Amino acid sequence: MRRLDQLLANLGYCSRREARAWIEASHVTVGGAVAEDYGQKARPADVRVDGEPLDHPDGLLLLVHKPAGLVCSHDEREGPNVYSLLPPRWRQRNPQVTSIGRLDKDTTGLLLLTDQTALVHRLTSPKHKVPKVYRATVDRELTPDLIPLFASGALQLDGEKEPCRPAGLKITTPREAELTLTEGKYHQVRRMFAAAGRTVLTLHRARFGELELGELPTGQWRELPLDFFAPDRAD
Ligand code: URA
Repeated sequence: MRRLDQLLANLGYCSRREARAWIEASHVTVGGAVAEDYGQKARPADVRVDGEPLDHPDGLLLLVHKPAGLVCSHDEREGPNVYSLLPPRWRQRNPQVTSIGRLDKDTTGLLLLTDQTALVHRLTSPKHKVPKVYRATVDRELTPDLIPLFASGALQLDGEKEPCRPAGLKITTPREAELTLTEGKYHQVRRMFAAAGRTVLTLHRARFGELELGELPTGQWRELPLDFFAPDRAD
């Protein structure tokens, strides 16, 4: 059960003050009866605003095809962000919709967004070893000696305490490769290739665990069930 004014504000409908005004103006019903008191507690599933059920009252989990040029930070000073792809109401939710891990501004591909704070912590924890597959193009020819280097579990990046976990490198063309990581250090793919004397020119995340983008166009998202990563389903 949640307080009505808080519920509407947290789901991004309006401010708490505006929610109180809406409730007083009879826009909100609970179980079919007009709500009289903004402090009233209700089950989200019983609430209607102007006759409409609430917008994703239990939470959001989205798979986004991230375009280049958008950051994952909410800080407007860092430039346009991936949240600008979402409907305005979803951008006003509290807890905030945020990315599960980050992709760099210039990286494209599969990004997960959610308002489920515990899920963000779980999936970004070092304990969580879900494989993520990146496709990179680089400036110089990729040679087979990089395969054991990346697989060694001994590649040390500047400023990191621990070496990189063993990573799978598949060279697909002379300057293109697929790299599978089970961790997410800052700028990890770019730094791993840099440690091997290559500069990453383009980077795309193709997979996150079992998830792939499929036909999802750039800039679009699709919803995942909230229990998609429930421990018995995905770990
Ligand atoms: N590694 C990077 O270097 N950049 C990303 O965006 C993701 C992984």
